[in-house]
Amino acid sequence: MTTAETTPPPTIRREDYRPPAFLVDSVELHLALHPGATRVTASLTMRRNPAAAPAADLELDGEALTLISSALDGAPLEPGRLARLPGGGLRIAGVPDAFTLRTEVEISPEANSELSGLYLSGGNYFTQCEAEGFRRITFFPDRPDVMARYTTTIEAERAACPVLLSNGNPDGAGELPDGRHWARWVDPHPKPSYLFAVVAGDLVAARDSFTTQSGRDVALAIYVRRGDEDACGHAMDSLKRSMKWDEDTYGLEYDLDVFNIAAVSDFNMGAMENKGLNVFNTKYILARPETATDTDYEGIETVVAHEYFHNWTGNRVTCRDWFQLSLKEGLTVFRDQHFSADQGSAAVKRLSDVRRLRAAQFPEDAGPMAHPVRPDSYVEINNFYTATVYQKGAEVVRMMRALIGEAAFRRGMDLYIQRHDNQAVTIEDFAQAMQDASGVDLSRFRRWYGQAGTPELRVRDAFDPASGRYTLTLSQSTPPTPGQPEKLPVPIPVRMGLIGADGAELPGAGVLLLEEAEQDFTFDGLASRPVPSLLRGFSAPVRLSGLSLEQLGFLAAHDSDPFVRWDSGQQYAVAEMLRMVQEFRAQKPLALPEGLASNISALLDGAADDPAFAAEALVLPSEDFVADQMDTADPEAVHAVRQFLRASLGTRFMARFAALHDELRDAGPYRTDGISTGRRALRNTALSYIGRAEGGDGIARAARQFETGGNMTDVLSALRVLADSDAPERETALAAFHARWRGDDLVLDKWFTIQAISSREDTLRVVEDLLQHRDFDLRNPNRVRALVGAFAAGNPARFHTASGEGYRFLADSVIALDAVNTQVAARMVGPLAQWKRQDAARGAIMREELRRILARPGLSKGTYEKVSKGLA
Ligand code: ARG
Ligand code: ZN
Repeated sequence: MTTAETTPPPTIRREDYRPPAFLVDSVELHLALHPGATRVTASLTMRRNPAAAPAADLELDGEALTLISSALDGAPLEPGRLARLPGGGLRIAGVPDAFTLRTEVEISPEANSELSGLYLSGGNYFTQCEAEGFRRITFFPDRPDVMARYTTTIEAERAACPVLLSNGNPDGAGELPDGRHWARWVDPHPKPSYLFAVVAGDLVAARDSFTTQSGRDVALAIYVRRGDEDACGHAMDSLKRSMKWDEDTYGLEYDLDVFNIAAVSDFNMGAMENKGLNVFNTKYILARPETATDTDYEGIETVVAHEYFHNWTGNRVTCRDWFQLSLKEGLTVFRDQHFSADQGSAAVKRLSDVRRLRAAQFPEDAGPMAHPVRPDSYVEINNFYTATVYQKGAEVVRMMRALIGEAAFRRGMDLYIQRHDNQAVTIEDFAQAMQDASGVDLSRFRRWYGQAGTPELRVRDAFDPASGRYTLTLSQSTPPTPGQPEKLPVPIPVRMGLIGADGAELPGAGVLLLEEAEQDFTFDGLASRPVPSLLRGFSAPVRLSGLSLEQLGFLAAHDSDPFVRWDSGQQYAVAEMLRMVQEFRAQKPLALPEGLASNISALLDGAADDPAFAAEALVLPSEDFVADQMDTADPEAVHAVRQFLRASLGTRFMARFAALHDELRDAGPYRTDGISTGRRALRNTALSYIGRAEGGDGIARAARQFETGGNMTDVLSALRVLADSDAPERETALAAFHARWRGDDLVLDKWFTIQAISSREDTLRVVEDLLQHRDFDLRNPNRVRALVGAFAAGNPARFHTASGEGYRFLADSVIALDAVNTQVAARMVGPLAQWKRQDAARGAIMREELRRILARPGLSKGTYEKVSKGLA
């Protein structure tokens, strides 16, 4: 979809929602697959929607479709009754109250580089229909509140496409003349068009089965390219554990005879929950110890669970319109986070979820694209598959559960599903089910869905030794965001405890509910002033301030809550780093703060008890996180300070890091349990410190680990150290890695990324060269994210280079991408749109580059929306 230079694309508003004028009861689809010219015949059984305002004409969505023929109740439609709508849709004048519409269209999967609708990847056919891809397959009311029963027949050449898959259960197959064959699939469950899928090609399956709680057997299959069957074990195991978990936790059972997954290397997002036929980015399916890192294994478990859980939260109960996206996404992220927490260390899982929320969602919520969890308007819905809709949406569900309690939350889920099964509903319906099941009034709480911006929570405290009364004063405010200058207070659940001077937990722990702009909470009978431990488990997605450096250091050492212990250590480090940034700017020499050194020393003392936690806590706050706490970022100064600290901590504790690196070597086969991954994480954190230390043997250790490492986690950690260095080992290792893995796309992505995020000063030059590398491909989203995305979003020091060359590089990339894949192009704009965070000189160049993109004729509406909002 492109727009003329002069007319801005229309804004869609939530308040303009109207029920569909026509409903579709059933869909009979026939797809005759050919790479350049696929024929799609659709028979839609339709009727007027009694709940909608009457409309004389039928309007159907359509995009990039060539209409071949059409018939209404069996009679061909005269051309006079047909009109094409702007954008490619179809209007049919004067239809009866109930009718069958048959259309035949031609589409070109081969020409589809957008990867929305039906496309080719490695010679195989895949579809992606969420959010608005079905209209690129056939004419249809392509909106989630039109739910229909689908029967799909696929026909293709048998040799090229032995496998023919669609939604639901298989319902016959057979031979055709000329070496072609067909297969039919029937999906008994009504569904919105965005859940439609077809996969066809030369794929092989890894198979297993699952017996549901009521004793039904479900055939499970993961379809991949030949040779990858042996890399599906972790995904399959994650699937079976997810199926069991949803039965045990929510009583939710799978509802078809088969559950199929197909993996594809060209995919815009992570994965897609099509009914009975999930389609996955290969990144979230394929794993072997020698090719996938521990992070990849974790990602697979999470995404497999996420898509499986959508079967109930998303598919059986779906969204009325796309403003309700978080109804399924926030809730399903909440469910996959809870599942993963149950699989291993819940505390460490929480830290990494919070780290991700702060890295992606907090900046989004403070930037030009800030929007509520339930947005009020959009230009391109694909721009709203955001950290706010997903991650903040999950936090809102989590708070809701904290407010009403676990038992009531479970009753609320039961009620939600019982009331709304096979319906397309709103976030309001979800909140109402929770309110009715719990008896808790959630009217104020619903503000979390409507207000953008991250609330700031401030704490003050006072102690009266005479009476033994301790008073905590909590206050909140939410900064203005685009279109929302004024904010109301939101209910903030603050899980807390009090710690005595000896480090012991005092009575009084619980949840404080801050509902007003400011409230006092008092605690009596205390002998001395306690230290407050606030936001335990990160009980609300807010920014907390008001604790002193001493209090933070104390909590990092003593609190019983692992989240507060970790976060206090991180906040302590941020405070010191911000102070050092000022010193660096004043050209004063930097020195290692002794308080920070002693925090690290204490962490090293306890590292053996909980390696996974220690690995998280030993890593200094990221450059972006530190810059995010400044009024105006200073990427150079922040980078210099963080590198200085890594080097001086590495030097100071060299012997202890070396001991960890020696002792934590994997014994026995590769395992992905929490203990094993925690040990590897700690060992590689140690290596990264040694790599920066002065006079250390980091390069030699890294080179040895790179050559002998038995798994990708260790190999890549070693390569990371080498890639950051000027040592000759760097080039040798990068060349060896490329030579060994040139045939494996997912590993090759890592090779691109590791160079893109290198702290070396020549990184931008290297990245520009890599753009010309024969293995780089602008049409492959994983590769684009691995190089362009990793550089722009993961290398602040080099992206924000004062010359502005990093900005120009990104703008050039966005312009080139917009002609190939508009969804991926729009996603890349983000870092440029954050110009208000930078100093005036950088900000001016960033705006210049945004304007240059905006001036391109034929810019897609998605990129237009990101760039124009970014400039505002
Ligand atoms: N529903 C998918 C998921 O969260 C995401 C698909 C989004 N795709 C898109 N093109 N916007 O699992
Ligand atoms: Zn999802």
